[in-house]
Amino acid sequence: MKGIINAKNLNLWYGETQALKNINIEIPEKSITALIGPSGCGKSTFLKILNRMNDLIPIVKIKGDIYYNGKDIFEKSIDVNSLRRDIGMVFQKPNPFPMSIYDNIAYGPRIHGIKGKQRLDEIVENSLKDAAIWDEVKDRLKKNALGLSGGQQQRLCIARALAVKPKVILMDEPTSALDPISTSKIEELSLKLKDKYTIIIVTHNMQQAVRISDNTAFFLLGELIEFGKTEEIFSNPLDKRTENYITGRFG
Ligand SMILES: Nc1ncnc2c1ncn2[C@@H]1O[C@H](COP(=O)(O)OP(=O)(O)O)[C@@H](O)[C@H]1O
Ligand SMILES: [Mg+2]
Repeated sequence: MKGIINAKNLNLWYGETQALKNINIEIPEKSITALIGPSGCGKSTFLKILNRMNDLIPIVKIKGDIYYNGKDIFEKSIDVNSLRRDIGMVFQKPNPFPMSIYDNIAYGPRIHGIKGKQRLDEIVENSLKDAAIWDEVKDRLKKNALGLSGGQQQRLCIARALAVKPKVILMDEPTSALDPISTSKIEELSLKLKDKYTIIIVTHNMQQAVRISDNTAFFLLGELIEFGKTEEIFSNPLDKRTENYITGRFG
């Protein structure tokens, strides 16, 4: 499988604090990559840098490179809006916009210039179907999205991410606020989505990483300690620190 995202000697500081230290990683496309590690080790920072969300924080300094489809994402010629359309994000806490279910999904496509009602209807339906929530909401598309349960809201947020036809979906602990049934729905959904999309997911749940990911990256104190096939990382880690973490000795 070919790498869709490639970080080379990547370093990031928040002021004086270095949050990422010389990260080198190539993420294969159309697969699920899990990012694991104790709190504060740089997982969210790494995720956010991939679509340049850290641009919004003035104290951030970055050294090194990230290539997306072979293109340096820090190049002046890069259009950040189109980068963020290609690389979408789903957060820990479901964050639907306070508007109708329909408008949540149509929001991104509208911003990108799609106007026709028929075209929007189609995008809304397909996105909700792809996010495995269509059947639950098809009769209440005009109702406020905030009336949905937490698990439904998270699938709605996934549908919203899918509506602009991304290539990569970043998920930062997307199930940590959800009950077990909603969690397993999101896990099943992720497994289905990886046929078409590259998924990078931060998780604190080791079983979840084992259940759904193809590859796992273990971060510790800003360093990428180990990256490889999930079954290898969990059955035969090369680094003692990885072993300590996955067996629950810290973090
Ligand atoms: N906006 C910020 N300003 C300053 N420091 C930050 C900011 N965001 C994260 N950090 C620091 O960077 C380090 C990595 O944080 P983070 O990427 O959120 O870790 P994780 O997601 O693994 O818990 C931590 O030391 C954290 O305190
Ligand atoms: Mg985090």
